[in-house]
Amino acid sequence: MKLKACAKINLTLDITGVRTDGFHELRSVMVPVTLCDTVSFKESDSFAFECDIKELCADDNLCVRAAKSFFEITCINPSVSLYLQKNIPFPAGLGGGSADAACVLRGLNEIYNSPLNSKTLFSLAEGLGSDVPFCLLQKPALCEGRGEILTTIKGMPSLDIVIAIGKSRLKTPEVFRAYDNAGIDTRNDTECLLNAIKEGVKERIIAALGNAFEPITDILAPETKYLREQMIALGALNARISGSGPSVYGVFENSQKASECAERLKDEGCFAVSCKTLS
Ligand code: C5P
Repeated sequence: MKLKACAKINLTLDITGVRTDGFHELRSVMVPVTLCDTVSFKESDSFAFECDIKELCADDNLCVRAAKSFFEITCINPSVSLYLQKNIPFPAGLGGGSADAACVLRGLNEIYNSPLNSKTLFSLAEGLGSDVPFCLLQKPALCEGRGEILTTIKGMPSLDIVIAIGKSRLKTPEVFRAYDNAGIDTRNDTECLLNAIKEGVKERIIAALGNAFEPITDILAPETKYLREQMIALGALNARISGSGPSVYGVFENSQKASECAERLKDEGCFAVSCKTLS
């Protein structure tokens, strides 16, 4: 069995507070996209995990942690080997690791005839990381709390996008820390976007995209600013970073314009792919 693990982008990301556990309160609209990793599940004598990227073949890989949590709670003797094929860049703010972990939970639950109900699966997902519950849901959603409180959003149109990332890499905790130190006023992009989605006007939806981290990532990874500007110069209707970066996505009028932009950015040595948001 082979399952897709779709990346996500944050159409908005507002930070509304800091919690006593050190995490931040978020309001973010996230959507899955067609860019995906795949996880293959095969019968085996015991548990094994492999990945086409050697540095990810470690016991602390989120896929291994997801599988361990599944076997622990179900008391099932592991008899499966997993093979992860990475296509989603990392670390990038695209939820790649979270998508892989959610995919492992879904796959194992299917293979072993659904020993876990949806509530338990979501609670395992929550223990693995803030974005894992969203990746289990696989639908456009308003994500609140740490990111784990999900409200499905209906009526989100599919968008033609380009996802790009240059050479710089950012660590999520470092970006949150820099944001806290900068004392930036809370934005309200999420509310604007939710209203635009309710109205159903695509242009207003695209205009409402925003990410509170951008003043920070512009400084920590100036390449993200360049990529956003370059996407606009290449015809994007709007361009934002996803999550805490450093990936950038641009929204285009159609798939042809998106493909042309992706080709240009690839010529500049970036990872760039044209894809679609899923609704
Ligand atoms: O939950 P996850 O492992 O993805 O979080 C990675 C890091 O991002 C956390 O250790 C924390 O520094 C930061 N984070 C946060 N508030 C959130 C989500 C993540 O501060 N809501």
